[in-house]
Amino acid sequence: MNTLQITNLTKTYPNGVKAINDVSLSITNGMFGLLGANGAGKSSLMRTIASLQEPSSGKIVFNDQDIISKPQYMRENLGYLPQEFGVYPKVSAEKLLHHMAVLKGITDKKTRKNQVEALLQQTNLFEHRKKAVYTFSGGMRQRFGIAQALLANPQLIIVDEPTAGLDPEERNRFLNLLSEIGENVIVILSTHIVEDVSDLCKNMAILSKGKIIAKGNPSELVRTIENKVWSKIIQKEHIDAYKKSFNVISSKLVSGETQIRVLSDSRPEEGFQQITSNLEDLYFATVASH
Ligand SMILES: Nc1ncnc2c1ncn2[C@@H]1O[C@H](COP(=O)(O)OP(=O)(O)OP(=O)(O)O)[C@@H](O)[C@H]1O
Ligand SMILES: [Mg+2]
Repeated sequence: MNTLQITNLTKTYPNGVKAINDVSLSITNGMFGLLGANGAGKSSLMRTIASLQEPSSGKIVFNDQDIISKPQYMRENLGYLPQEFGVYPKVSAEKLLHHMAVLKGITDKKTRKNQVEALLQQTNLFEHRKKAVYTFSGGMRQRFGIAQALLANPQLIIVDEPTAGLDPEERNRFLNLLSEIGENVIVILSTHIVEDVSDLCKNMAILSKGKIIAKGNPSELVRTIENKVWSKIIQKEHIDAYKKSFNVISSKLVSGETQIRVLSDSRPEEGFQQITSNLEDLYFATVASH
């Protein structure tokens, strides 16, 4: 069993932005979802765990190894798919993967060949292996990103917003691939898409303005607002009045009509219907209460 222990982690950038603010998390094998809006600090947290940047204070311990004083242990056991991969060189996917395998220390030729081939197969890219990655579609690129992250059997895999911009089919394909990687390693998935987390992760945290504002099992977290979410179709121009009177956690257009969702122990007023709460409600309710 792998364990990642993050304690009181803080990161303040030279420009004064406190991107991570006293974060503590304990993560073991399986999929862990890190949910947060743009600018919440997801990439900052991931880069710090990946030991690509040092925290301002706090501790990161991975399998009893202190990562801040010994980043080497993390680097040897990490698979990382960054949010922005940068520019791909004009070589084939297969060649690039071989090159990355060498960088990861897979020096034995036979081992490397087997692993590169297996990963191209697993990510459904084998038939495209002779094409350069920069000619790939977004979904293929993300699958290539996973292939390179899986080189050398990492024990901790970090994927930073991998589903952003993918069409529904590619997104499903990518998430299935992630879940296949399985239960024997830690996979940390950062996303702003609530369904990514509710569909896949047995544990999660919500990050807002650098702070963890909720953490736990998604279903258990949703249970904390069970029977407390109410919805009503209203006229768009009344929304501000509703926001003044009730704890409106979200509003959206449903078939062209404005539907608001309110968090309340009892029926807020006539016309509200109790609905089954979901992770999105929990997310909005938690963010709204902070
Ligand atoms: N290298 C940096 N120097 C200074 N400020 C930074 C740096 N990187 C990020 N920030 C700031 O830190 C905060 C958190 O940014 P971060 O990229 O970690 O958020 P995020 O949750 O990954 O957002 P997104 O969903 O848009 O990727 C933001 O206010 C951002 O402007
Ligand atoms: Mg980011």
